[in-house]
Amino acid sequence: MKMASEYKRSLKPISKRDKGKIVVKGQEYWDFSTNDYLGLAEAEELKNEALLYLKEHTFGATASRLLSGDYEIFHRLEEAIAALYKKEAALLFNSGYQANVGILSTLLNKNDLVFADRYVHASMVDGIKLSPAKLIRYRHNNVLDLKSKLAKYRHKATRALIVTESLFSMDGDIALLEKIVALKKDYGCSLMVDEAHAVGVFGQNGGGIGNELGLETEVDLIVGTFGKALGSFGAFVSCNSELKNRLVNKARSLIYSTALPPHIIAWNLKALNFVKENRGLAEVLFSKVRQFKEFMHLNQVIVDGQSQIMPIVLGAEEKAVAMAETLQKKGFWVLPIRPPTVPKDMARIRISITNHHSEEALRKLADAIGNGF
Ligand SMILES: Cc1ncc(COP(=O)(O)O)c(C=O)c1O
Repeated sequence: MKMASEYKRSLKPISKRDKGKIVVKGQEYWDFSTNDYLGLAEAEELKNEALLYLKEHTFGATASRLLSGDYEIFHRLEEAIAALYKKEAALLFNSGYQANVGILSTLLNKNDLVFADRYVHASMVDGIKLSPAKLIRYRHNNVLDLKSKLAKYRHKATRALIVTESLFSMDGDIALLEKIVALKKDYGCSLMVDEAHAVGVFGQNGGGIGNELGLETEVDLIVGTFGKALGSFGAFVSCNSELKNRLVNKARSLIYSTALPPHIIAWNLKALNFVKENRGLAEVLFSKVRQFKEFMHLNQVIVDGQSQIMPIVLGAEEKAVAMAETLQKKGFWVLPIRPPTVPKDMARIRISITNHHSEEALRKLADAIGNGF
């Protein structure tokens, strides 16, 4: 058996993607590792919108937004996002990574405290590390631990920020946002929520978990991405005008980078409305999730998670690698998720269900996992 350190990461080029299947080195697989949960990356309606825009405009934005890359369509999309979250403003970033790094490194000052869920995405950790603020991590999705850390440390600073994901990317569980909002109020903090994996999937308007719970106005900074359920690229933050203004003036990942190609923004605008008007897409996804869980149950494997993201935690890195290899041999593109992406001894395979997956594919994958133990 290989030592954990021998499992190097490598790139695996795909030559084709079609309705939930991908081709890697000439071999076809059902893709269970994509974040294209609603199958929108292949949506003709959205492709046509982007192509129409592309016909009339340059391919690239040609400059950063603070130079001449700031097309009007960026502002139309920002207005739509602000309206979705009932906020004064929104600001686009080139990716979720750039959003989180830019926001946190810009808004956090010396002597500020940040209370972050231990499992928040690397982009948030990197943003905090680039700032002079002090980071205090609380146990994953554990509001009692958050409360005790707030009670112990909050009084030490004038300003404090709580940071969490809404739907955790590697665990598929959902933050207890109502309780976190109550704690934010009790302890006089601001709150930033990354809705990357929830946008499009959750919420009556497809805005995510905060949207589903009606908490949009309680969250000071709502981050979302277009690269997951909306099938495209780019990200946003929705917040008040004063925070937006500070970001426009100071966020280095916004200022020092060429703006996204405008036809991508055209897609993003259309996709945002598309998910709002087609909430049935999320219903289809949730029915597939239920179906998969039933198939797993029949195989006597209980899967955690309250969403389309299902981790099967195997512990040792080599176990996750072996399980992924077994599944790949059977035609399922499932990858091992290993430290440092997840904590040591919590290596796993991460199954992400999408609207492309047929009942047969879900059943066969569940059987393959059941037989793989
Ligand atoms: C919670 C979370 N935030 C941010 C990001 C980064 O988003 P993007 O892929 O748009 O850079 C990811 C991507 O994996 C994520 O899972």
